[in-house]
Amino acid sequence: MSNGRPSLSMTNQQHSNGRGVLTSPAACLGAILFVLSGVCFSEATLAQRRNPSRQARPATQRAIDYSKFSHSTEKHKQTCNTCHKVPTRNWQKAADFPDVADYPDHHACVACHRRQFFKGARPPICTVCHSKVSPRDDARFTFRNPGVMRQFSIEFPHDKHQDVIARVPPAVKPWRQVEFRAASYIFTSPASSWPAAGRWATQTQDDKTKTYNNCAICHGNGARDPLAPAGGWIDSFVPDTATFKVVPTGHSACFNCHWSSQPPVSHDCGGCHKPATPYQAIASPTRISMKFRHGREQHVAECTTCHINITKASSLRGLKPDVPITSCTECHNKDGLRLDVATELQAVDKNAEFVCKYCHTSDAGRRDPPASHYVIAGREPIKRSGIR
Ligand code: HEC
Ligand code: HEC
Ligand code: HEC
Ligand code: HEC
Ligand code: HEC
Ligand code: HEC
Ligand code: HEC
Ligand code: HEC
Ligand code: HEC
Repeated sequence: MSNGRPSLSMTNQQHSNGRGVLTSPAACLGAILFVLSGVCFSEATLAQRRNPSRQARPATQRAIDYSKFSHSTEKHKQTCNTCHKVPTRNWQKAADFPDVADYPDHHACVACHRRQFFKGARPPICTVCHSKVSPRDDARFTFRNPGVMRQFSIEFPHDKHQDVIARVPPAVKPWRQVEFRAASYIFTSPASSWPAAGRWATQTQDDKTKTYNNCAICHGNGARDPLAPAGGWIDSFVPDTATFKVVPTGHSACFNCHWSSQPPVSHDCGGCHKPATPYQAIASPTRISMKFRHGREQHVAECTTCHINITKASSLRGLKPDVPITSCTECHNKDGLRLDVATELQAVDKNAEFVCKYCHTSDAGRRDPPASHYVIAGREPIKRSGIR
């Protein structure tokens, strides 16, 4: 996520809906002025309302693209909640809990952008938020617009959360009733009393499923088939739904605790969203061992037996699953059981072009086996180039 790494957001799949496309019939400037003057300029003076074009114009006009909003523009670097309100007015329609589910309102912009709001029949600035530009149509893009570059990365220290998450009270609702969207739990208290109690609904302890340090609060199983990468799946190998764990795609994983008292609180967007070089989020997963399936019965274990370093991670920057091959050895490279690694290493000995395919697709499988693989096979590392 940070450093522009694709996030595995399979529940939040990518669309290619372009922005700035005006689909409505030509709207008449007069009508826009009429609606906007009534709706958003109610606090403006009468004179301004009657003649909004009578503002001072800059002497020179630079070509500024008012269809693309940047948080790094100096005047836009105000406290986040000058524009973003929590919750937004539409939250009951959009979420199960008071969420930020919409764009800022007009009054967050008009004080500075009166001119752009009244420019031409279909002002480009409307397309920052609206999918249709018309004085009567309030249709807006999804917030956040999947077709637009992301401007922030998430701050989440796994280390600081280990203890607090282990303290989470036990389940009140059975696992199967838990809603999978962004995270593997829902709020149990009615929306009206939220967030006073903020209880959790994780899986019940008597269920066959076990609780693994409550990682599952944020990392559930994939709810639907993962999205193929732009160039298609490598080797046409299509991983199934049981393969991946998902990552949070929204606030349900955080606001239960970070609502109004535990910093960063919900209106402090910048406490969790850190400015980043704009990047295109990629919804398809990337892996070293594409063929490893979390869902296989024998692979279901305490998460930290494989993700050995995660509870020490103080940031998401450069964070990788970090699973050493030694967590596979006992089942996949043991005399008398299976020798998947040793067998493939021997195949490379015989044929320097051999592509390992048991755990990997060919992107990793055709490279030099790393030293770690030779170590568990009890051998000295060699390079393919040294094999004739
Ligand atoms: C001047 C008004 C304004 C301020 C101040 C502002 N935002 Fe925004 N923000 C917007 C608008 C408009 C959009 C929608 C633009 C878009 O789709 O890229 C948006 C979109 C977002 C998004 C979703 C898009 C993305 O890049 O992921 C996040 C997250 C966000 N803002 C966080 C913040 C944070 C954090 C701060 C404070 C550091 C902040 N905003 C301050 C106006 C503002
Ligand atoms: C405090 C004044 C202020 C506020 C509030 C403000 N802007 Fe701006 N905005 C500016 C300035 C200054 C620029 C630089 C270009 C210019 O002079 O018009 C700018 C530039 C832009 C641009 C061009 C691209 C960019 O980001 O540089 C867009 C689009 C834009 N604003 C949209 C918005 C929207 C939408 C809102 C409300 C959510 C908003 N602005 C709120 C002052 C403001
Ligand atoms: C920063 C995002 C943003 C921009 C830019 C923006 N709108 Fe909106 N617009 C909204 C939101 C949010 C609402 C819903 C307000 C509410 O529910 O209270 C809305 C509502 C509307 C409505 C419904 C009436 C109302 O005010 O509730 C119309 C019509 C409308 N906008 C037209 C426009 C036009 C025309 C432009 C360009 C001149 C524009 N908007 C620019 C965010 C935006
Ligand atoms: C409160 C939510 C939360 C909890 C609990 C949590 N994580 Fe995470 N985890 C995150 C977020 C947010 C990310 C960043 C996701 C992204 O890249 O967009 C992440 C990233 C990861 C990654 C890297 C994923 C990748 O794509 O490379 C792994 C692995 C991981 N977590 C494992 C765990 C394990 C194991 C536990 C339990 C010990 C755990 N997490 C507990 C929120 C959580
Ligand atoms: C038997 C070992 C093993 C166990 C147990 C395990 N994982 Fe993983 N996990 C992996 C491997 C291997 C990868 C893929 C690493 C790669 O190839 O880049 C991975 C990747 C991930 C990712 C990144 C997304 C993905 O699926 O590629 C997340 C998030 C994650 N694991 C979370 C968890 C959580 C939460 C648990 C416990 C419920 C867990 N893992 C248990 C081995 C394991
Ligand atoms: C079970 C409650 C709980 C959940 C869920 C939770 N947090 Fe926290 N978070 C805390 C507590 C408690 C602290 C303070 C920990 C400390 O200072 O040792 C904290 C601290 C933080 C901090 C500040 C760390 C610092 O350096 O001071 C950030 C950032 C943060 N959380 C982000 C998140 C994000 C993002 C999510 C959702 C993916 C999330 N948290 C989910 C309880 C939670
Ligand atoms: C406690 C941490 C935290 C705070 C505070 C927070 N966010 Fe987020 N936000 C997250 C996490 C984690 C995600 C999911 C990861 C991602 O997709 O970037 C997210 C996702 C989003 C999304 C995408 C949601 C979706 O359904 O597509 C938007 C938009 C957003 N945040 C805007 C904001 C705005 C605006 C604020 C301030 C009003 C804010 N956030 C405050 C942690 C936080
Ligand atoms: C507790 C034992 C155990 C551990 C630990 C284990 N596996 Fe497996 N794995 C199995 C079994 C049993 C099979 C099924 C073998 C068969 O029938 O061919 C399997 C199958 C697989 C398959 C074939 C795809 C599938 O799901 O059928 C891959 C790939 C794989 N494991 C990768 C890994 C990797 C990578 C690790 C370490 C991160 C790992 N396994 C750790 C027991 C384990
Ligand atoms: C039982 C599963 C398994 C088999 C079989 C296997 N690997 Fe791996 N491989 C892993 C795991 C787990 C990792 C990540 C940990 C590591 O680097 O040791 C990995 C890492 C790698 C990497 C490093 C990728 C990177 O970007 O860091 C390469 C290259 C690789 N393997 C090539 C091979 C080759 C070539 C073979 C065949 C001789 C092979 N692997 C056989 C599980 C396997």
